[in-house]
Amino acid sequence: MAKVKTTFFCQNCGAQYAKWQGQCNACKNWNTIVEEVVQKPEKSDWKTPKSPAKRASIPLRIQDIDTSKEARLDTFDGELNRVLGGGIVPGSLTLLGGEPGIGKSTLLLQISLKLPYKTLYVSGEESQKQIKMRAERINPNNNNCYILTETKTQNIFKQIEALEPDIVIIDSIQTLHSDYIESSSGSISQIKECTTELIKFAKETATPVLLIGHITKDGNIAGPKILEHMVDTVLQFEGDRNHIFRILRANKNRFGSTSELGIYEMQGSGLREVTNPSEILISKKDEELSGNAIAATLEGMRPLMIEVQALVSTAVYGTPQRSATGFNAKRLNMLLAVLEKRAGFRLGAKDVFLNITGGITVDDPAIDLAVVAAILSSNEDVALQKDFCFAAEVGLSGEIRPVQRVEQRILEAEKLGFATIFVSKYNKISLKNTTISIQLISKIEDLVGFVV
Ligand code: TYD
Ligand code: MG
Repeated sequence: MAKVKTTFFCQNCGAQYAKWQGQCNACKNWNTIVEEVVQKPEKSDWKTPKSPAKRASIPLRIQDIDTSKEARLDTFDGELNRVLGGGIVPGSLTLLGGEPGIGKSTLLLQISLKLPYKTLYVSGEESQKQIKMRAERINPNNNNCYILTETKTQNIFKQIEALEPDIVIIDSIQTLHSDYIESSSGSISQIKECTTELIKFAKETATPVLLIGHITKDGNIAGPKILEHMVDTVLQFEGDRNHIFRILRANKNRFGSTSELGIYEMQGSGLREVTNPSEILISKKDEELSGNAIAATLEGMRPLMIEVQALVSTAVYGTPQRSATGFNAKRLNMLLAVLEKRAGFRLGAKDVFLNITGGITVDDPAIDLAVVAAILSSNEDVALQKDFCFAAEVGLSGEIRPVQRVEQRILEAEKLGFATIFVSKYNKISLKNTTISIQLISKIEDLVGFVV
């Protein structure tokens, strides 16, 4: 038997070493180097077919490259199209990451069931029967969707050659394995090798490939970080499993912007596209409750009205608790300190809980003013007017700072029937004929007058 060859890999950057060491020379991370069994591949699995001319690549003068109409495959899913920047680019590799059970398999199976092209869904995780059962919940009528349960890349390529699909979906990259590498599936060298083979296949045949990737405990895509460098697009599917909303974002996109966002709702019959997120994220209550405020935020290019809830109560124990869901806890502490110092509210001995409803996480600084308003409202136990909304950042000295694209936020608030929006005095607004009243404020004290 041949001697087993092992190599040491850095789990973070994929650098190779002949022997173990504590720190990776390339990325300077500690304890990321692991040993793996490898066998150098003699040849790649994907053999370039000789016949079709389009499969060969020749050098072109840069002036001669046609960019006028970059053909994209429509995914027949408005949210996914938006996040990808208008559809799937032929020959691209897209990686979809997300926590277990969040709905990655559901999303991609649903896409393959909707597509009018010939799609091949390769699953290494579930049996054909299981996938059929899932598909029946979604939409059983599609003649173009083929399911293959296989994990060996050699066999997958054989089937691809026979079937010639227009799009290939792999669920998941961690279950694939190539015969040329001896280590087990999911190891760094296997993931690298299988991805390389898939890239070669995708680029040479102009077939787009969608990969599902597992994520580790700390939220990174399992396997080497280098995987994210190899693919063209990295999508993240996130949300709270106990809530119905799921958010799809692009962390990297070679063919579009990374600021777009897709929103889905998980239903009994699969994922439904949410085209009017603001209307769903705001609960329409009849009675006015203290501690609720609406923020006019922006996620990517999309305005999104979000409900912020705060609860301020006298601390039972010596050390008051501060907890935030969907909002940065450090930022909450900062806002509380500003309220204490600049507006004279004694919150030091109070418990403060903050929640962004709908299970989504917001990092738009324009939500600050709504957070402050919700805290003040709960602290004084006075409900804010239901038709108030807020869009401004709060600075350390209690100043109300301008936010980007404020006019878009104002128009969204107006569309949803809000009567008053609070924004910074320093925002340049040139909107005319708005029915919504725009309150310009410059200091946190200005807000206090309206709230309490
Ligand atoms: P799944 O797609 O298997 O997640 P992942 O591939 O990311 O691990 O997600 C399955 C979850 O979604 C599971 O908890 C059941 C739920 N679900 C629905 O609520 N409705 C549906 O129509 C389907 C297919 C799944
Ligand atoms: Mg799955």
